[in-house]
Amino acid sequence: MMDFHGKAAFVTGGASGIGLGLGHALAEAGARVMLADIEEKALNDAVQSFQGGNLPEVRGIVCDVRDDHAVERAAQATIEAFGKVHIVCNNAGVTGSVGTDDIDLQSWRWVIDVNLMGVVHGVRAFLPHLKSHGEGGHIVNTASMAGFLAGTGFGPYTATKFAVVGISEALQVELAPEGIGVSVLCPGWVKTRITESRRNWPKEYGAPPAPRTGPRAERIAELVRTGMEPRAVAALVLNAVRNNELYIFTHPEMRPPLEARVEKFLAAYRELGPAPHSEPPPVRAS
Ligand code: NAI
Repeated sequence: MMDFHGKAAFVTGGASGIGLGLGHALAEAGARVMLADIEEKALNDAVQSFQGGNLPEVRGIVCDVRDDHAVERAAQATIEAFGKVHIVCNNAGVTGSVGTDDIDLQSWRWVIDVNLMGVVHGVRAFLPHLKSHGEGGHIVNTASMAGFLAGTGFGPYTATKFAVVGISEALQVELAPEGIGVSVLCPGWVKTRITESRRNWPKEYGAPPAPRTGPRAERIAELVRTGMEPRAVAALVLNAVRNNELYIFTHPEMRPPLEARVEKFLAAYRELGPAPHSEPPPVRAS
C-alpha cells in the first residue's frame, strides 16, 4: 500500500480544478508536489495557495504538455528538486467543440496534442526514472467517463479519453512486474474551469473556433458548475493509488449507461453463438 509521506509527485494541469485538488490532497498526505501548468499566473496563485499550511514543499513549473522537450525539462527539474519522484499525474486536459463532423482540423490537433500526447509525454519523461530508483511508483492518467461513454457528443475529446483509458490499461499490465502501479481517473462532471478551455488555445493553431452557445452548451456548463468538488475527486484518487486500483470512477449515476454499453458488446457476441473452443485469447483481460 502506497504511503505518501516522504514521496514526491508531479501533477500536470496543476494550476486549476482537478490538478490543483490533487496537489492539495497529495501535499496533505505528506508528499512534496511539483505542479506543472501552461498558465503561469494561475500556477503562481496555485503555489501560493499552499503557503502557511505547514505542508511539504510545493513548487510550480510552467510546462506545455504538448511539447515533449518541455515535459522532459519539467521532469528533470522535478527530479533535481526532490531527488526521487514516485507519483506522476498526467492530468492536463482541454475540451474541443461539441460534435464530430463539423469540427475543424486544428481543434482536433489541439485536443489530441494536449489530452493524448500530453499523457504520452508524461509517461515517457518519467518512466525511466520510476523504474531506475527501484522504490516503486504510480502513474495516474486523467481520462473521463467520456473514455467509456461517447454520449457527451465531444468527438475529439471522446477519442482522446478512450485512448487514455487504452494506454493506461496497457501500461498497467506492462508495469506491474516493475512495482509501478497505474490508475486511470474517469470522472463525471467536476466543478472546474474545463468549459473555459479555450483560454489556453495556442496561437500557432490559428484563430480559435467560435465558442459553442445554445441549450446544449448551457446544459454542460450547468452540469460542470454543479459538479463534484475537485477535492472529493482527489480523495478518491489517493485511495486508488494507496490500493493500487486501475479504474477510478467517481459518479455512481454513470454506472447504468456503462452497464448498457457492456451489454451491447455482449449482445453482439451472443449473435456469434458459443466460442468454438476454450483456448485462451492472446491478450490478457487484466
Ligand atoms: P481545468 O480547466 O480547471 O484545469 C485544466 C488545467 O490544465 C488548467 O490549469 C490548464 O491551464 C491546464 N492546461 C491546459 N492545457 C495545457 C497544456 N497544453 N499544458 C499544460 N497544462 C495545460 O479543468 P479540469 O476539469 O480540472 O481538467 C483536468 C482534467 O480532468 C482534464 O484532463 C479533463 O479532461 C478531465 N476531466 C474533467 C471533467 C470535468 O467535469 N471537469 C470530467 C472528466 C474529466
